[in-house]
Amino acid sequence: MIQHFRFGQPLPTDSVVQEIPVSAGPVPFLTAEEDGWAYRMAPDAIVYGLGEMPRGINKRGWHYVTNNTDEARHSEDKLSYYGAHNFLLIDGGVGRECFGVFIDFPGKVRYDIGYTEYDALRFATEEPDHELYIITGDDLNDISRQFRQLIGRSYIPPKWAFGLAQSRFGYKTAEDVREVARQYKENDLPLDMICMDIDYMQDYADFTVNKQRFPDLAALSAELKAQGIRLVPIIDAGVRIDPENPVCAEGLANGFFCTKADGTPFVAAVWPGKAYFADFLRPEVREWFGRQYKALTDCGIEGFWNDMNEPALFYSPERLKAFFESMDELSRKDNIVQDEFFGKVVGGALGLMNAPEDYASFYHDVDGQRVRHDRVHNLYGGNMTRAAGEAFARLRPGRRTLLYSRSSFIGSHRYGGIWLGDNASTWAQLLANIQMMPNVQLCGFLYTGADLCGFSYDTTPDLALRWLEFGLFTPLMRNHATDGSRMQEYYRFADMLPALRKMLRLRYALLPYLYSTFMKAALENTSYFRPLGFDFPADPDARKVQDQLLLGEGVMVAPVYTQNASGRHVYLPEAMKLYRIRSVDDYDTELLPAGHHYVRCALDEVLLFIRPGHAVPVARPASCTAQLDDTALTLWACPDENGSARCRMYTDDGETSDFAAPEHWKTLELN
Ligand code: GLC
Repeated sequence: MIQHFRFGQPLPTDSVVQEIPVSAGPVPFLTAEEDGWAYRMAPDAIVYGLGEMPRGINKRGWHYVTNNTDEARHSEDKLSYYGAHNFLLIDGGVGRECFGVFIDFPGKVRYDIGYTEYDALRFATEEPDHELYIITGDDLNDISRQFRQLIGRSYIPPKWAFGLAQSRFGYKTAEDVREVARQYKENDLPLDMICMDIDYMQDYADFTVNKQRFPDLAALSAELKAQGIRLVPIIDAGVRIDPENPVCAEGLANGFFCTKADGTPFVAAVWPGKAYFADFLRPEVREWFGRQYKALTDCGIEGFWNDMNEPALFYSPERLKAFFESMDELSRKDNIVQDEFFGKVVGGALGLMNAPEDYASFYHDVDGQRVRHDRVHNLYGGNMTRAAGEAFARLRPGRRTLLYSRSSFIGSHRYGGIWLGDNASTWAQLLANIQMMPNVQLCGFLYTGADLCGFSYDTTPDLALRWLEFGLFTPLMRNHATDGSRMQEYYRFADMLPALRKMLRLRYALLPYLYSTFMKAALENTSYFRPLGFDFPADPDARKVQDQLLLGEGVMVAPVYTQNASGRHVYLPEAMKLYRIRSVDDYDTELLPAGHHYVRCALDEVLLFIRPGHAVPVARPASCTAQLDDTALTLWACPDENGSARCRMYTDDGETSDFAAPEHWKTLELN
């Protein structure tokens, strides 16, 4: 059951697709306080949700703010990342209530989940006007299904988007891109996508191509597509200021950019230098911006990533000027004391980026109402995704287009996926990836993944391999790195190459299971990844697990995320069959009883657990998704007490949007 409460006159977000009448009655479970809502947590209560946020699967024991932020350092002390996912799923404790809370609000929401007091959960919207949905049901799985119904069907990418994507900030020429394709082929590593970072653009201006470095994008795209590889270019939120550029000129002439209090367009610098920011909250602006993608779809491009759309602001000219002036004063001093150095020099420089004062200095037009940006900040990036998603439905009707974004809010999950932003090449971030996945997917973002090997810092061969051993299960499987970091394409690690190859091939072999699980999750509002506590709510040990995930109906994964470990501790809430896999043709199996185990897992092995009565269809590996033959399947299985095991498999052309036909489904059975 979903109860809907409205307080004041909230601004629209379009997060919800189901009309639920507003209820007058008291809000169950929560207590209204002067400044928000409170819930008293029993000692064993668990709080799931909040999507893309730091810390564990259970959000208890920290505080958070949904405030979409270009956060370059991902660490436990952070309060916000790139997305605003205001959904909590509260498991009140064994034998107690469980319920979902969706706070439909476009600005900041602050959460204190056992941070001030370990047994108190509190949250508050920055302004009093908000919508609140309370969802109750049979269990956590049922509540999450109802929530997904409320917010509408998750975005479904083409099937090739489940292949490997190789990306890097710094593929500067068409030749660099070709070299990646060539190396993947020569090293017999499968590949489906090469992402093009801002390097392909002319002066980092959206919808332009640098003709010196990429002389014929259409030809390059066709050449690679013939090898089963798609090019996936990036589009940034900020439009480079350049009167010669038609996108800039058109946007300006039509008044499509966000404006300052005086009515002139707001300006801030991002990758292209000074930029304007399209007012994506207006339907006609979305329509116009979306139309620009045609410049690239006309070159045969079928997939995009939208970036910098929190929006990230490096600096505004006004504040940079003020900073320089304050430095000018300081520069005349003979001795700059500590406070001045850290406060004014270092703090002043860093404070230029993504400054709250800048977010409070420009305006949107929301249904004819002039609204200051910070009040609707969290809707910005997701509406850029919406602009693109709506455009693709017009530009490529009936066909699926790949789209993933950095910033998002609940609602934009209907138009695109997300990647988890600028992580780092550390083991802690591999664990963070594991822990973030179920919460992000709980909020509707099924097509998700982190930058494998890590984005910033230098990765290591063993981290590349261990991370892939988890990444091969994530819907978006993309290796991406920042400019200047160690090169990390999978062919760069000579000693690890045989193992990396086997793991990549394993991903393709498992695609029948992974794609079917994804399609089932999208079409039936079930989960792809979920915490163990969802299926074993009365098992105190299962509830506590923070580093194993259930994957679809039949599988549990327990990735190794510690450097130089020979295995890991695994908790099994029921007997399961362990597949310890070195390659699709080389694995051993063991039926493990319920309970705690130390499971050995060498560097070149991955652990896959199959639940009783379930089977996993396994295909022959392929060099790209187009080559995958899902008719010749082997079943890996854990038969139940009757000796039978089954799975539901989904097959379609992977390209068109005709998802609903019942003939896509078949049941495979082992008995
Ligand atoms: C941002 C993105 C990153 C990209 C870089 C350059 O930091 O998050 O993925 O490589 O910008 O475009």
